Amino acid sequence: MKDVIIYKIDDNSLNIAKNYILNDELVAFPTETVYGLGANAYSDAAIKAVYAAKGRPLDNPLIVHVHKDSDIEKLVFDSDVAKLLRNAFLPGPLTMVYKSKNAVSPLCSCGLGTLAIRVPSHEGAQRFLRFVDLPIAAPSANVSKHVSPVTAEHVFEDLGKIIPMILDGGRCEGGIESTVLDVTGDIPVILRKGLVTAEMIRSVVGACEYADKESELNKRSPGTRYVHYCPKTETALFDENEIDAAERLYEECASEGKTACVLSSHKNCIALKRSTVRLDIGNDGNEMASRLYHSLREGEKYDILIGIKFTPSDEVSLGVENRFLKAFGKRK
Ligand code: TXA
Ligand code: MG
Repeated sequence: MKDVIIYKIDDNSLNIAKNYILNDELVAFPTETVYGLGANAYSDAAIKAVYAAKGRPLDNPLIVHVHKDSDIEKLVFDSDVAKLLRNAFLPGPLTMVYKSKNAVSPLCSCGLGTLAIRVPSHEGAQRFLRFVDLPIAAPSANVSKHVSPVTAEHVFEDLGKIIPMILDGGRCEGGIESTVLDVTGDIPVILRKGLVTAEMIRSVVGACEYADKESELNKRSPGTRYVHYCPKTETALFDENEIDAAERLYEECASEGKTACVLSSHKNCIALKRSTVRLDIGNDGNEMASRLYHSLREGEKYDILIGIKFTPSDEVSLGVENRFLKAFGKRK
């Protein structure tokens, strides 16, 4: 058992982090979306340690993170479309999947022949990546299937006994993981929805599609088929037109001496009785994204977390809805 140490990001902690990375150990670090669990992407041993620490299925590939001045042509085959998108959105919450040059450990891409690369905009992430100056493979820093972490404390709860170091950069503002975009073909294809939307991508390169069909997604981005984001407490899910039923369950729990809490959009939360304890994630997509995982983790403090579905009002809230439904055990 290790004693994890949480450090603020400065030259001293970055020196320690670099040493860990060079020794195939794992370092959690903040990004603008969620915390990542970082490992040297060149090292098979370090990548194996990532899968082991998370209990992650071995066929779910990892995103490689680089700083904003690094030369990605060492790692992947570039394209004009990808260049335009990088200029428009990076650094930022957009991961692009390219044809791989097989420079990093093959365990990063699970035999897909492609490599996902992300340039995070978070200042702490940039400092870490620049200091280490290696491509860093990093999944979200949670135990597999659990809610992604948006604070250093969330990482500590999941991995505190497994990894040696967490770099603390405060709460992640973006709140849901990056958009994953396949740029290996003529038309970019979104494999995972996020804060960079199809509409934003179309405005730069003219076209963008969603790989929405389950069968296609399973093949192209294996991670999307697994259970994700599950809070460690009992959950129940209601439709938007079943707010009364949600309230009845809430009251039933109270009468049995259990604590309960409702999690939903602002629009639904204001329809609840005043005394009902709630986690209001807002209405607008960006606001909902920044609150969802934090609220799901807060919701674990109750015996039962009751979700009420919401109607997405914009493209970002579609990505939030996708995670919300998975958290409450539904596929969409
Ligand atoms: O915002 C984020 O993307 C966060 C932070 C830490 O950067 N990272 C993250 O990683 O969410 P993870 O491992 O939890 O999710 C990576 C997703 C999975 O759905 C995986 O299947 C997909 O990216 N992915 C990775 N490499 C891929 C590849 N070569 N082809 C297709 N999908 C890939
Ligand atoms: Mg994840």
